[in-house]
Amino acid sequence: MSFWPGLIEKYRTYLPVTASTPVVTLNEGNTPLIEAGYLSEITGEKVFLKYEGLNPTGSFKDRGMTLALSKAKEKGARVVICASTGNTSASAAAYAARAGLRCVVLIPEGAIALGKLSQALIHGATVIPVKGNFDVALGLVREISQKYPVTLVNSVNPFRIEGQKTAAFEICDQLGGAAPDFHSIPVGNAGNITAYWKGYREYFEHQKIRSKPVMLGFQAQGAAPIVNNRMVANPKTIATAIKIGNPASWQTATAARQESGGLIDKVSDNEIISAYKLLAQKEGVFVEPASAASVAGVLKLSKNGYFKKTGKKNSKKKIIVCVLTGHGLKDPDCALLSVKKPKAVPAKLENILKVMGL
Ligand code: F0G
Repeated sequence: MSFWPGLIEKYRTYLPVTASTPVVTLNEGNTPLIEAGYLSEITGEKVFLKYEGLNPTGSFKDRGMTLALSKAKEKGARVVICASTGNTSASAAAYAARAGLRCVVLIPEGAIALGKLSQALIHGATVIPVKGNFDVALGLVREISQKYPVTLVNSVNPFRIEGQKTAAFEICDQLGGAAPDFHSIPVGNAGNITAYWKGYREYFEHQKIRSKPVMLGFQAQGAAPIVNNRMVANPKTIATAIKIGNPASWQTATAARQESGGLIDKVSDNEIISAYKLLAQKEGVFVEPASAASVAGVLKLSKNGYFKKTGKKNSKKKIIVCVLTGHGLKDPDCALLSVKKPKAVPAKLENILKVMGL
């Protein structure tokens, strides 16, 4: 049986670690690349889902956090801090607990999903809800980390990007040493699109792959600063994870778009929720709403004939990878709001059979 040691050990030669770096790991990474039969059928292409919700804390953030906390520990940090729409705080709290460091998280009050909040709290982080949105909270933690001996573990910390780029390596390895034709991803603070593009570029430079994908980023319509080329003061979307009006990695996201010949577009909350339900009900994959933006975007482009017009000019089906960034159990409230709630019936056979339509 082969043992997965976590992504630092697996991709050590590509990462800024030495033999003396203490590796803080929960054996993150190695997430499945799931073939999406239904999506392939309706798009006429070959669609795969990179299910990052299966990381230890239920989101892709663990890839960045294993490295950020290892490096923080290496330099002797005692306290780490982040602002978060939820997943970063959950991951930072877990990895800090494992590293024996104190963790402080600032979250926009009332605007993060239940699962994420419970994770940050149970892992023992100091959780500080602020009366302001994510962008305001990020400004505050940046200032604190500049003035005090506190290590910032948001994706402006370059080690976060280094860790997260390994997901691109995995996709290429899983596709048998090839990059997909298209890579679709939700965009919030824009660290992850930056990380994937870096990963693909590095694998290309190391001749592990012969081409790089076209990068397709998707923001929520009410939180689409990059698409509209203007900051959003009051971002709004049901996908709270990507409710961000002034992404920290704005420049590197637009560079990924431009260098790959891709695009960054927006999808409405309705499109996000339809993709969210489609994933759950047709593919059997439960994700949080923000994650469904990558699939909503691909469906939107497919309807407009984009995949037939773009990329390699041949009749072969294009390989599209959609990143599913977080697990559905992160946000159980959204699931319950999106379905009809069942009604209780008397505990009698006839009542059950009636509901079953028998
Ligand atoms: N999907 C999920 C589930 C997320 O939690 C995030 C970001 C994104 C997508 C967007 O990734 O910011 O790298 O562009 N969540 C951050 C957080 C902001 O605080 O958990 P990004």
